[in-house]
Amino acid sequence: MKKYKIPVNEPSLIGNEKKYLLRCLKDGYISSSGAFVKEFEKKFAKRLKKKYAISVSSGTAALQLAFESLNIKKKEEVILPSFTIISCILPIVRAGAVPVLIDSDPITWNMDVNKIEKKITRKTRVIIAPHIYGMPVDMDPLMKIAKKYKLKVIEDTAEALGLKYKNKECGSFGDVSTFSFYANKHITTGEGGMIVTNDKQIAEKCKSLRNICFNDKRRFLHYDLGWNYRFTNLQSSIGLAQLEKLNRFVIKKRKIGQIYNKGLSNIEAFNIPLDKTKYAKNIYWVYGLVLKKNSPISLKVLMKKLKKYGIETRNFFWPLHQQPILRKMGFFRNIKLPVAEYLSKNGLYLPTGLAITSLQQKFVIDKIKKIFFK
Ligand SMILES: Cc1ncc(COP(=O)(O)O)c(C=O)c1O
Repeated sequence: MKKYKIPVNEPSLIGNEKKYLLRCLKDGYISSSGAFVKEFEKKFAKRLKKKYAISVSSGTAALQLAFESLNIKKKEEVILPSFTIISCILPIVRAGAVPVLIDSDPITWNMDVNKIEKKITRKTRVIIAPHIYGMPVDMDPLMKIAKKYKLKVIEDTAEALGLKYKNKECGSFGDVSTFSFYANKHITTGEGGMIVTNDKQIAEKCKSLRNICFNDKRRFLHYDLGWNYRFTNLQSSIGLAQLEKLNRFVIKKRKIGQIYNKGLSNIEAFNIPLDKTKYAKNIYWVYGLVLKKNSPISLKVLMKKLKKYGIETRNFFWPLHQQPILRKMGFFRNIKLPVAEYLSKNGLYLPTGLAITSLQQKFVIDKIKKIFFK
């Protein structure tokens, strides 16, 4: 693996992580049973003001189980944005349901909620709403539409733990909401995920599915097909220490974003992220740049030049309607979603990890200026 001078993400693990992890090793509970799992789930549920929190092995696993818990049938329709990670569409395709894609808002990069209602048919059952790159989906109109048409909402909060929409925590809107604890997320356990809900049936189903649908009365007798998506006590011990610092992490993330904003705002060639809207303040999960049509430098060249300086960057998502595997399976043959397409071809994000220093950010800003101003 190439080591960058400034990696695109480096987590911050300098609180109680080591202490709790050592306690876990000392107790000998390293798999999925153990006090830390229960404690982490309890504290997570409390933070989101939800009755149930079910830890799982990744954000992708969380989406799979959340989706399965809603009992969607073949040919039923699910609305989601094209500009998101493939994890959002996997459970839909695997269930034989029909994904219906929405284009993004060019300013917030989130699903354009004004385009949802036109796509609703008698077969629509669910909206999957992932918050993208640090700004939330405009949840009020989305929830209004969901209520009007009796649709369930899966709120994918993988990138948005700690983000607020009109002072309400993201992840608390959906009938079921999902989170990821991969190393680049606001809190990390290496790999990991969480599902939260107030619905007992959804919670029970997710718990059962995560544990290969073992049944309580007679072990090894199964009435349903599940997965092993269990989360470990080791991971939970780190998660608990990370959760203690979430509020500080959010402050740091905003600071990272604002330092970049200040340093990069006078460069004409690209658009920088919006700092706030009337409903939210950006928490810059990642700090994205979108090159304008008249940029003198292409995305590829910019990334290459930054790489030469030891600065790692990453492309934006590739839109779902242009994913080779989905096209091969016959999906989205004649679909055009211009905003998602533009973002994917012209967007990149800069190092935005919680361990980044202001000196490192200054280095990144200086090099970008040098590239554009020569
Ligand atoms: C919006 C979104 N949903 C889901 C996931 C999947 O999470 P994981 O990598 O933990 O499977 C990610 C990962 O980055 C994500 O950005």
